[in-house]
Order: sequence, then structure tokens, then C-alpha cells
Amino acid sequence: MKLLKLLLASLTVTVALSANETLTKNMIEMETALNTIQKGFLYNSPDMVKAGIKQIETTNDIFNNQKATAKYLPKNKKHMANIAFNASKRMDSAANEMKAYLNNKEYSKAFASYSEILNSCNACHSVVRGW
Ligand code: HEC
Repeated sequence: MKLLKLLLASLTVTVALSANETLTKNMIEMETALNTIQKGFLYNSPDMVKAGIKQIETTNDIFNNQKATAKYLPKNKKHMANIAFNASKRMDSAANEMKAYLNNKEYSKAFASYSEILNSCNACHSVVRGW
């Protein structure tokens, strides 16, 4: 019985660690995606911007619903999963908006959606970090 409890405890720790690792990996990739988008705008490469958007969408998938989002929040912030999830949805709509503008060659408007993506990063981080 004691052994079983120990085993269960260590399993829980493993699961928690891997959620943490997934989060860190995704956050670093989100940062890379932002850099790619910014570089694409600076060097006038819509294809590069599109590649960055794609990476934003892939990494944002970990927050695909409120429950999944809660998994990545600190213990004392899980009750705010709805706000964090909304930030993630806001990022998805900004990404969609940006794609539509790029397809219409409305690059200034696409750039404005880039700042909307940035704002959505901050919307979640300010919840998580209590800013
Ligand atoms: C739905 C919530 C959420 C969204 C949206 C979000 N993040 Fe995060 N991010 C977190 C959490 C949770 C952490 C870990 C806690 C912390 O660092 O305060 C984090 C941490 C980070 C870190 C620090 C990682 C480390 O190893 O210390 C970076 C970099 C980061 N995020 C980048 C981004 C970028 C770029 C975006 C937007 C494109 C973004 N995040 C959007 C939740 C989010």
C-alpha cells in the first residue's frame, strides 16, 4: 500500500513536470515565432511573416480549451483560466486577421495585428504573473 502511494506520488510529479516542460518549450517557440514575424515585416518578406503565424498557431494549440489552459497555470491562478483562455483565443483571431490582411497585401493592417498578438501574450502573462 505504502509502495503504491509512493508510486502514485512519483507519477503525479512526472505528469506535472512534463506539463511544465511542454509549456516552457511552447513559450520559447512562441517567442521565436514573434521574432520571425517581426523579421518578416522588417525585411519585407510576407512568406516569413506567414511562417511565423503558422508557428504561433501551432504553439497556441496547447491552450485549446479552458481546462487545457488551466493545466499550464500556476496553482494559485487556475481559477483565472477563463481569462488566460480568452487571451489565447484573442491571439488566434489576431493571427487569422493577419493572414487575411497579408492575402490582401494590406501590410500596415497586418502589422497592427502583430501588436494585437503581442498584447495577447501580455494579457495571459499579466494574469499568471500578477502584473
Ligand atoms: C494562455 C496563457 C499564455 C499565453 C497566451 C502566452 N503565454 Fe507565455 N507564459 C505563460 C505561462 C503560464 C508562463 C510561465 C510562467 C511565467 O513565466 O510567468 C509563460 C512564460 C513565458 C516565457 C518565459 C519562459 C521561461 O522559460 O521563463 C516566454 C518567453 C513566453 N511565455 C512567451 C510568450 C509569447 C511570445 C506569447 C505570445 C505570442 C505568450 N508567451 C503567450 C502563459 C501564456
